[in-house]
Amino acid sequence: MLYAKHIRLRSNERSDLPKFFEWLNDPEVRRYLRMSLPISQAAEEQWFENMLKRPPEEQSLGIEIKDRQGWRLVGNCGLFDINWRARSAEVGLFIGDKSCWNKGYGTEVMHLLLLHAFGTLNLNRIFLHVDPDNLGAIRSYQKAGFIQEARLRAAVFREGIYRDELIMSVLRSEWNPEE
Ligand SMILES: CC(C)(COP(=O)(O)OP(=O)(O)OC[C@H]1O[C@@H](n2cnc3c(N)ncnc32)[C@H](O)[C@@H]1OP(=O)(O)O)[C@@H](O)C(=O)NCCC(=O)NCCS
Repeated sequence: MLYAKHIRLRSNERSDLPKFFEWLNDPEVRRYLRMSLPISQAAEEQWFENMLKRPPEEQSLGIEIKDRQGWRLVGNCGLFDINWRARSAEVGLFIGDKSCWNKGYGTEVMHLLLLHAFGTLNLNRIFLHVDPDNLGAIRSYQKAGFIQEARLRAAVFREGIYRDELIMSVLRSEWNPEE
């Protein structure tokens, strides 16, 4: 397990799937995720089976926070499409429990993922795609050290219109683990 001050990241278990089914069908949670169709429990189970076949470094991680009852799953995250020659990977995360938004957990998760990506996996560049309207996410990524590197024009079609998408990234050389 990977530990930070208020959160920890652990391997996903099959028993996580009912929570993912609930969260990823919540319009507010999925609004800025690349998901436009309802997700079935069967699709979640298929996702889990496929995820187990991915390389260990690309297996997704459950986000847990500690409350009075103990550690509790609140979301999911992970690195994917790792390019070992360029030492680059994409990162993604969501916090499905909306009561946990804007409490600093997302920033702490990203910080821990970067520590893992740079310090353990020896990657050099971590990037992500984000909707320009997802201001909370952008702010959180900036706090974790990401900068905007590109704006993809009319890259997605959502809620009836074409929308731009931002690419944000952080390089190991510019990342400050103390921040
Ligand atoms: C995006 C997400 C991971 C961020 O996690 P989080 O725990 O809510 O983020 P943090 O609390 O660490 O940081 C959010 C920051 O944005 C700020 N913020 C929130 N809404 C904002 C808005 N509308 N405008 C400007 N800033 C905003 C918060 O105040 C906070 O900044 P601060 O600490 O300086 O006050 C989480 O909200 C989430 O999972 N959302 C749903 C799924 C999603 O959109 N995933 C990302 C896809 S790219």
